[in-house]
Amino acid sequence: MTARPRRSPRRLSRCFSIADLRHLAWRKLPAPLFHYIDGGADDEVTLRRNTAAFDDYALLPRTLCDVSAIDLSTRVLGQKLALPFFCAPTGMSRLFHIGAERAVARAAAAAGTLYALSTMATTTLEDVAVASDGPKMFQVYLFRDKGLTAEFVQRCIDARYDALCLTIDTPLAGNRERDRVTGMTMPPRFTLASLASFAAHPGWALDYLRDGDFNIRNVAHRVDALAGGGMSLIDYVNSQFDRTASWADAAALRAMWPGPFVIKGVQSITDARRAVDAGASALMISNHGGRQLDGAMAPVELVARIRDALGDGVELIVDGGVRRGTHVLKAIALGANACSIGRAYLYGLAAGGEAGVAHALALLRDEIARDMALMGVTRIGDVGGELVDWLGHRQERTAPRD
Ligand code: FNR
Repeated sequence: MTARPRRSPRRLSRCFSIADLRHLAWRKLPAPLFHYIDGGADDEVTLRRNTAAFDDYALLPRTLCDVSAIDLSTRVLGQKLALPFFCAPTGMSRLFHIGAERAVARAAAAAGTLYALSTMATTTLEDVAVASDGPKMFQVYLFRDKGLTAEFVQRCIDARYDALCLTIDTPLAGNRERDRVTGMTMPPRFTLASLASFAAHPGWALDYLRDGDFNIRNVAHRVDALAGGGMSLIDYVNSQFDRTASWADAAALRAMWPGPFVIKGVQSITDARRAVDAGASALMISNHGGRQLDGAMAPVELVARIRDALGDGVELIVDGGVRRGTHVLKAIALGANACSIGRAYLYGLAAGGEAGVAHALALLRDEIARDMALMGVTRIGDVGGELVDWLGHRQERTAPRD
């Protein structure tokens, strides 16, 4: 379990990095909820590796270039985005702030980037569409209830979503041990320490009780039809992950959806090829933020080899571990079109609702703009392989031979 952060700012205006926002989120949230965001599977090797692997690459700046005008815009998923990163789908946002998914969607739209809404969201996809006119993607799983997946597609068409995302790394939920320690399980089994932490965060409790209606709203009607309550809803969702799902099912889903189709959870060249064959227009190289298979490779370590294998025809998004502007630039230099972020904006949401998400996006935006100037590039399209090197070469050269 992570120790108390050393520097712990109390206000958004004192948060100068995503790490600071994480600290403020730690202050604001009862421990089980902080750890629900912050934690990963098993020993969290992949969770740590996702961010640490960025340090295995070094940037090679160019100097004395005219960097007076920096353009961060990029084109992905059929959209021109003002930023080279967007907000990945994450469930249960209402637990972290009353603003929930609407707050994230609005902050993303104001920053000129895309918001991906999760099937596990606590706001309906229609309500998010009303709240934000920015670019939006809806994320689905291959559920056993095929009627529900088909219904999602039609609802996304009706609500004018720009893209559909299929997450493929979840035949079942990963082993998130922090959640078991705190009791953040289904159903909850909170420990005394967890209950004390809820009691020590009355601000969160008041906020939570204000509308008192937590629900996984995009699927709730399905369970009402089965005469269930709150907990049976979660049982329902968990029971819906289809372990028999195949690439043919992914292709069938693709055939139902007319717009850009994104496959999230690609972690090998083989799966990247299969995803393209199934009709994906973009691939999110992702291990679910280290929440599923512990021991998996970091997305940034995979991007160059997938780009080399597939060529330029498919868009690649590096999803996982991004906490700094340089992380985004390294991923792009290695072959990504853009990155997506999960925890970076969730820490912001927990720290300060919509303003907190806006703060997270602005921190990364400003870091990328500053770092591009320092690297001697002015456009995202100019961030190429000559600007990055893999430090493993040094280890290879200096490794003792026997
Ligand atoms: C997620 N993620 C996720 N992915 C998905 O496809 N559907 C979902 O409902 C969720 N829910 C979710 C909840 C929480 C609390 C987290 C932290 C993550 C994974 C997410 O989309 C993304 O892949 C990771 O968050 C990326 O890693 P970073 O940026 O958090 O390091």
